[in-house]
Amino acid sequence: KTAGATEALKFGFRPIDIATDHEVHVPEGFETQVMVRWGDPLWSEAEGAYTDTNGVPVEMSDKVFGENTDGMELFVVDGKELIAVNSEYVNPKINLPAEAEGYPRTAQEVELLKNLQGVTVMEVAKGAQGYAVVVDSPYNRRITHETEMVLAGPLAGDDLVKTHADPKGMTVKGTMNNCGSGKTLWGTYLTCEENFNGYFGATGAQPVGQGYQRYGIGGEGRYGYEKFDARYDISQEPNEPHRHGFVTEIDPANPNSVPVKRSALGRFKHENAEMVHAKDGRVVVYLGDDERGEFLYKYVSKNTWAEGQDPSGLLDEGTLFAAKFNDDLSGEWLPLTPDTTGMSIAEILCFTRMAASAAGATTMDRPEWVAANPLKAEAYCALTNNKNRGVKPNAGGDDTATNAVNPRETNHYGQIVRWTPADENHAASEFVWDLYVMAGNPTLYNNDYAGSSNINAGNMFNSPDGMAFSSDGLLWIQTDGDYKNEGDFAGMGNNQMLVGDPDSGEIARFMTVPNGAEVTGLCWSADKTVAFVGIQHPGGSWPDGAGKPRSSVVSVWRKDGYAFG
Ligand code: FEO
Ligand code: CA
Ligand code: CA
Ligand code: CA
Repeated sequence: KTAGATEALKFGFRPIDIATDHEVHVPEGFETQVMVRWGDPLWSEAEGAYTDTNGVPVEMSDKVFGENTDGMELFVVDGKELIAVNSEYVNPKINLPAEAEGYPRTAQEVELLKNLQGVTVMEVAKGAQGYAVVVDSPYNRRITHETEMVLAGPLAGDDLVKTHADPKGMTVKGTMNNCGSGKTLWGTYLTCEENFNGYFGATGAQPVGQGYQRYGIGGEGRYGYEKFDARYDISQEPNEPHRHGFVTEIDPANPNSVPVKRSALGRFKHENAEMVHAKDGRVVVYLGDDERGEFLYKYVSKNTWAEGQDPSGLLDEGTLFAAKFNDDLSGEWLPLTPDTTGMSIAEILCFTRMAASAAGATTMDRPEWVAANPLKAEAYCALTNNKNRGVKPNAGGDDTATNAVNPRETNHYGQIVRWTPADENHAASEFVWDLYVMAGNPTLYNNDYAGSSNINAGNMFNSPDGMAFSSDGLLWIQTDGDYKNEGDFAGMGNNQMLVGDPDSGEIARFMTVPNGAEVTGLCWSADKTVAFVGIQHPGGSWPDGAGKPRSSVVSVWRKDGYAFG
């Protein structure tokens, strides 16, 4: 047992020890099992398509659950439970034959990789063996790097987004590097395009596009798409990267609906999209940009909304703000407008990072998920870590000196900031903030690397990333950090999911995931008796015990059947 693990059942469970093995662990009184793995069929024609030697064949690659599960949300449609879930990226080494050495050699191999990323909508149902995917459900859908979409909002139709294939700049193919998620007040899914830059490369002359440096565009694409498809070749289509890096809205209830890219929410490496209904009736979406020295944002709709109203326009007409955290624990949301940035509206939405720099926002230690407390007006953002402050600043970005909200020069462990908006109105332009937790290692340090007072030997973790509130007002924290369990990270073990009490600050370890994996994505069954948790990039041969490691969604429930979400 790890010293100091609290035996209290404050959270309804006894906190668990760290793990360094290749299993999933949950507290006594809980049970877990794998619900769906990379390569599992969504339609019966794909049954048996996955093999542990060859993975998924290209012809079935858009009929199975994708790889590297990430953000997800559950919807109830006509009494059915649907989960929309991201597949953030693929590992070419385990998807392609060994001879490919991790890099596609043909257009077919590129197609395979494209199909195993994007978004899955799937019906799930509880049977005698627990929750499973409903194979052949009419709601099942795969959305990939090739799915037709609409570009909406003020950037649509601008010269910045026109290409040979889309001379009007109104329709885009695909959503890519879908990281975190969100759910609208009107029951649609928000999927967030994070490291989209890596899908583009230059086969010829490297264009020097506006914003290329700040967004990391150039060089060779991560998956070699540009060698087989001109759309991804910035030598031929320099504007194509401007059409990605958005929050994309998908209606899970209608498998024929056309996804919509919401340009009004800005273009950057979006982590997730946490929507809240502000006290004044407007719709607010909190947004993190996961890169060292980038910013935390929020979008506020122009118009108000009430249950039952048509939500058209709410995510197209509004204002984007970037956060400024003052040292005296006050803060301001800085509007990104032509006046504050010297840029046009289209430029602000296409080169949002530069707009926020111009407005004077506070550089952050990699803003990952934002989660809003359903019981009171406050929100939290995981600032995962910053290992390179001053060593490798974001090209073209701002100076990233420490500040009150990112206080550590070398930040291996990360922290979680929270803020309360003025007048308890999420649409307000002022807020007060504090650090909910500074992760650290109090067994090694007694300076600020020990972490805040709510960190102890029994709940140590590093690199908070995924976060979600349960309906009872507890904050669930998922980690994507160093899992070697040595050096600065000794005593932290594999990545984990913890539960935090916003009021007392107490944090307890609920789950550990297989060595190598991060835990990301969390939602609950409609009756809150089952949690669905994403296990991304596991090592070894989890969960099959032989063959390739398979990212999966697991279900977790109380043996006594009580709700816990
Ligand atoms: Fe895909 Fe920032 O995590
Ligand atoms: Ca993440
Ligand atoms: Ca991360
Ligand atoms: Ca990840």
